[in-house]
Amino acid sequence: MDRLYLDNAATSWPKPDVVYDAVDRFQRQLGASAGRGLYHSAQQASRLVTETRAACARLLGIADTRQLLFTANGTAALNLAIHGLLSPGDHVVTTVCEHNSILRPLHWQVEQNSVQVTQVGCDAVGFVDPAAIAEAISPKTRLIAVTHASNVTGAIQPIAEIAQIAHDANAFILVDAAQTAGCVPVDVAKLDIDLLACGGHKGLLGPTGTGLLYLRPELNEQLHTLVQGGSGTDSLSHTPPDQLPEKYEAGSLNTLALAGLGAAAKYLEQQTVAAVQAHHNELTRQLLDGLAKIPTATVFGPTADQPRVAVVSCTIDGYDPQEFAAALDASCGIECRAGLHCAPRMHTALGTANTGGTLRLSPGWSTTAEDIGTALEAIAALASMPVH
Ligand SMILES: Cc1ncc(COP(=O)(O)O)c(C=O)c1O
Repeated sequence: MDRLYLDNAATSWPKPDVVYDAVDRFQRQLGASAGRGLYHSAQQASRLVTETRAACARLLGIADTRQLLFTANGTAALNLAIHGLLSPGDHVVTTVCEHNSILRPLHWQVEQNSVQVTQVGCDAVGFVDPAAIAEAISPKTRLIAVTHASNVTGAIQPIAEIAQIAHDANAFILVDAAQTAGCVPVDVAKLDIDLLACGGHKGLLGPTGTGLLYLRPELNEQLHTLVQGGSGTDSLSHTPPDQLPEKYEAGSLNTLALAGLGAAAKYLEQQTVAAVQAHHNELTRQLLDGLAKIPTATVFGPTADQPRVAVVSCTIDGYDPQEFAAALDASCGIECRAGLHCAPRMHTALGTANTGGTLRLSPGWSTTAEDIGTALEAIAALASMPVH
């Protein structure tokens, strides 16, 4: 039985062939540490990391590549942004749509650092009203932390409007682009974003073990380092170097995975993110149309005509979402995720928190219309079977 992978919101698979080639080539032929030696292969490894940084920066509208910091994943990038920026007594505005990689660091800040957090709600399909964010702001608000697109409903939030609200209040905006980077055009300059975090292994199509944080240059002095260690430079100093990206990238980089991420970013540049988005949009429409024809299916999230990414959540009457996902895998090799998707508040808002969450289908760059047709047939067939 072939696999039909529909869990690209967790991590993208398969990767473009150029990614496998780049990882293989690096491991077999280079393998040296970037930024740590002057011999030929170490310099080549450094160059590769520089190229990866530049390619990711181009994709995200980052003018100064030094402001793009590599991390282990999106979670590490969000932790650096949140813990690096906040001080005792600060106030943060966030939303119920967030992933635990924002909610939990903020909770830690509340418990350990007396930070205050206000969570703004969303409408029935997952959109946050910027006016509600404006209302939640206080004179102590230092940060607005908001996901670009929900990993449960797929709803894309109006980031430019929220950024304007943040800046009018002298606060910063942190955007979690986990579900949008590489899937919809994201430009930190156009959206006026201060900090942007994402993994490199989802829509950016790189290997796991990659993530990145964009930091607006004005914040260089304000963001504390969370990890201190070797940087390959200024070794006599007791403190990390002042210059970016080294200041925030202590220790050996995951050069192997970054080689793959560089190839992925260049591949996306060639294909264009706009073309990927158009493909995702077609598949999403097909998925939503098909699910609407299954009488026992309830779909959560925006319509195909509203701002959204290719993340579709539903429930099937009478079925626990985990059970349904397991049956899809066992009977047809369809791989998708069910449950709360690490976004508990979103499920409280949708009313699915205490009923096992949702079944989530997330197609990717290589998913075809035929694949979606196969998945829809399998879902319809299972959904029509008598519930035990
Ligand atoms: C919205 C959102 N934010 C953050 C993350 C965390 O990203 P990572 O798995 O790269 O740590 C995810 C991952 O699922 C996500 O969907």
